[in-house]
Amino acid sequence: MRTQVGIVGAGPAGLLLSHLLDLQGIESVVLESRSRSYVEARVRAGVLEHGTVELLRETGLGDRLVREGLRHEGVELRFDGRGHRIDFAELTGGRSITVYGQQEVVKDLVAARVAAGGAVLFEVSEVAVHDLDGDRPSISYVDAAGNAQTLECDVIAGCDGFHGICRPSVPAGALSMLERVYPFAWLGILAETPPSSHELIYTNSDRGFALHSMRSPQVTRNYLQVPPDTRLDDWPDDRIWTELQTRMELADGGFTLAAGPLIEKSVTAMRSFVVEPMQYGRLFLAGDSAHIVPPTGAKGLNLAVADVRALSRALGTFYSTGSTEGLDAYSETCLRRVWRVQHFSGWMTSMLHRFPDDDRFSGGIQRSQLRYTVSSRAAATTLAENYVGLPFD
Ligand code: APR
Ligand code: PHB
Repeated sequence: MRTQVGIVGAGPAGLLLSHLLDLQGIESVVLESRSRSYVEARVRAGVLEHGTVELLRETGLGDRLVREGLRHEGVELRFDGRGHRIDFAELTGGRSITVYGQQEVVKDLVAARVAAGGAVLFEVSEVAVHDLDGDRPSISYVDAAGNAQTLECDVIAGCDGFHGICRPSVPAGALSMLERVYPFAWLGILAETPPSSHELIYTNSDRGFALHSMRSPQVTRNYLQVPPDTRLDDWPDDRIWTELQTRMELADGGFTLAAGPLIEKSVTAMRSFVVEPMQYGRLFLAGDSAHIVPPTGAKGLNLAVADVRALSRALGTFYSTGSTEGLDAYSETCLRRVWRVQHFSGWMTSMLHRFPDDDRFSGGIQRSQLRYTVSSRAAATTLAENYVGLPFD
């Protein structure tokens, strides 16, 4: 089999890339190891930046997003038992974020690819990439029926996430991996109960970080900072609800978190990770295969979208003019945004979490940072403009 762009991974990065290429008349094949239903059901974050929403709308993916997504014009930072609103709309000239689950984005993308007759092959195995440094790279795999196949292409997009095979297929020494691991994890729950606030609440408490989020007017999503080795068995539902309520308590007693039946429960480790460069020969890495951010700024999906937007444009130039200028600049273009987002996500993480070795000095700095962020217009604007997302390059 032959195609122009071979894409490994049908997460948001791989699927959106395939869609954006199709709009420019460029052919691609997406190879995914999981099943369609698994990919569509995988619960992840759910905050879309202003520019992400615009891109999805402009490229015909906005119908359900506009109907069902929840547009938010601010968030709350809560500490010392008091809440402080950061007003995105006011601080960023009317920009906002939209709460819409990542798996809903994935469902919309799969539906769009299927409707356009796009090749998305699920349940393939033994995927391997070859000849990355020539101009005829290929991908070998075993299809869902058990037949060995080879896909020849001009370019390979490694959109196979942090644990994928593309990044490790690059010869040793060609890429630098830069990493920071945090001494805590997030325990996340999805519950069938209406949100207890109109906007997200990021809480710094003496007992650790807590986040109140949502998916719809009927479904809430909450997170607790927990030790990295946490076992879910140690967290029965009522312990989770009590801990969330305690951490999010207001000094005037004016906050009650509505509890309800859990739909999902998981523990996610936290790390910051960057690979430099995001390219080797004809292999281009995009999304989680190239970088991971801690979830405190809700940036993972948005960064993946920015990568594939850049890659689809560079490939558009390549196929229309033969120039590799855009492709050659891909890594540098993406890494500028990646490092901005690494800083923002790391900053939010350090401001809101309790670190095991915190002394009173670091505690004093953290509290001062929080107070400054909610009281200085300049500092609040820094949070707001990064949170709604800086403009694409
Ligand atoms: N062969 C084929 N597919 C693979 C392989 C492989 N060897 N390894 C992994 N995959 C698939 C995974 O099953 C997954 O569907 O690649 C896909 C990668 O998707 P994501 O992990 O969702 O990564 P990405 O598309 O970059 O999206 C980034 O997802 O993880 C979140 O926080 C992250 O929100 C961000 C977004
Ligand atoms: C979520 O709703 O899943 C979510 C929201 C904000 C974050 C992270 C996750 O910072």
